[in-house]
Amino acid sequence: MMSSTNSSSPSNIEIKYTKIFINNEWHKAESGKTFSVINPSTGEEICQVEEANRVDVDKAVEAARKAFEIDSPWRKLEPSARGSLMRQFASFLRRDIDYLSKLETLNNGKPVEESIADINVSADCIDYYAGWVDKIVGETIPFSHDSFVYTRHEPVGICGQIIPWNYPIMMLAWKLGPALACGNVVILKPAEQTPLTALYCAALIKEAGFPPGVVNILPGDGPECGNAIAIHEHIDKIAFTGSVEIGKKIQIAAAQSNLKRVSLELGGKSPLIICEDVDLDFAVNIAHRAIFNNAAQNCTAGTRTFVHAKIYDEFIARSVALTKKRVIGDPFDSNTKQGPQINESQFNKILDYIESGKKDGAKLECGGTRVGTKGYFIQPTIFSDVEDQMQIAREEIFGPVMSILKFDDYDEVLTRANDTSFGLGAGVITKDLTRALSFAQRLQSGSVWINDYDVICNQAPFGGFKQSGHGRELGRYGLEQYYEVKTVVIKLV
Ligand code: NAI
Ligand code: MG
Repeated sequence: MMSSTNSSSPSNIEIKYTKIFINNEWHKAESGKTFSVINPSTGEEICQVEEANRVDVDKAVEAARKAFEIDSPWRKLEPSARGSLMRQFASFLRRDIDYLSKLETLNNGKPVEESIADINVSADCIDYYAGWVDKIVGETIPFSHDSFVYTRHEPVGICGQIIPWNYPIMMLAWKLGPALACGNVVILKPAEQTPLTALYCAALIKEAGFPPGVVNILPGDGPECGNAIAIHEHIDKIAFTGSVEIGKKIQIAAAQSNLKRVSLELGGKSPLIICEDVDLDFAVNIAHRAIFNNAAQNCTAGTRTFVHAKIYDEFIARSVALTKKRVIGDPFDSNTKQGPQINESQFNKILDYIESGKKDGAKLECGGTRVGTKGYFIQPTIFSDVEDQMQIAREEIFGPVMSILKFDDYDEVLTRANDTSFGLGAGVITKDLTRALSFAQRLQSGSVWINDYDVICNQAPFGGFKQSGHGRELGRYGLEQYYEVKTVVIKLV
């Protein structure tokens, strides 16, 4: 279903920041280059943004180094004062949520209501980590009667952070929260598709009172700016969210430069298993949300929906009915549930996957084509009779394509669910407690959701098994990427 109006790109959204943020100042690109930022709802340009390259990265590293010197204002700040700065930043995210949510929707295309939800969760994430600042503690370790052994958890140093376009503000909050809580300094590169809200956040960080050089935000592309961060000799750690392809490049770049610490949150091909004992509408709704949420531009998307043979036909019928009602269109219209895909290349890639599904013999139940003539809208699409070896069942589509696969044996479906190079999320819907727990134990993925899907909370760790990455974000575990452990041994003479 299309939403009624088409008034994307409201002209009243002022673009305030388009430059490179280094040392709490706005800079033009050293190269003199800018790049175009596109509104995915229309395909038209929103504005030009300064394009950082390796020279600008060097400049940011210099500022970050100064900010991290042992007697700098940032290093000398009491932990609780560091927490106050973080809470101030979080409060500014909430203060400006009206503007910021519209800017996010303009640049990313997600419905405004979802932008608002993302920003609230992001502010909560920063607050959550602000609560950790004075609780990052080492240990005293018994060793011998005449020595004293203890550990200190010290910041790693300059942290490069490269984030994607699907949750621009939230990914920024997930990265900054633990890094700042541990006392690090940061060089963050937003995705080239969605730099606008990150730059606005830079202004909020300055307003909150962070010392110059603690957070630097560099808009730029991957091969030039991102790679310059990944290979930099003086960047101590890199955190990346994005594709497996680039995750591998980051790990190689780290190894070939200074062996910087690497954490990676990559893609997925997550299974959702619907058992035969479920309440059907409950299961249909979860499976629908699991795939189509955020226009399916979601690393945890439940892209392989395994349905028990006994309920298979009815599950498909109800899923198709629900999906046909999904309102797609202008993300500024409050009825809209699904906006555009992020850009033309993602749009084309998804349509190619839909063609491959048809060619491979999956049954197209609904959707399958673009919506409208401008912007990057794709109908929510369902394939049934999908088989494990088909391309649409193996590769990350990152678009609104649900693949329904039939099963009738629980051991067999578990093997099939795990037969993937990914391992980010997995879901099971059943009323059988033993079966649920057994699946939770045997599914190879960083998160398992039972009778729900894609519930990600700031307090609990999130990350991947296998090629979905390594390292965890969020929760206490998320801090571990951002401190070094130093052992101090003192002879008691
Ligand atoms: P990408 O992995 O190329 O981009 C993600 C980030 O990495 C962006 O900031 C980009 O500028 C940066 N980057 C790109 N090349 C780089 C390089 N050589 N060195 C350092 N940084 C680099 O992802 P892209 O091309 O936007 O999307 C392709 C596919 O990746 C999607 O279809 C989807 O399957 C997956 N993806 C997964 C995401 C997740 O949440 N795990 C998010 C975005 C994309
Ligand atoms: Mg790419």
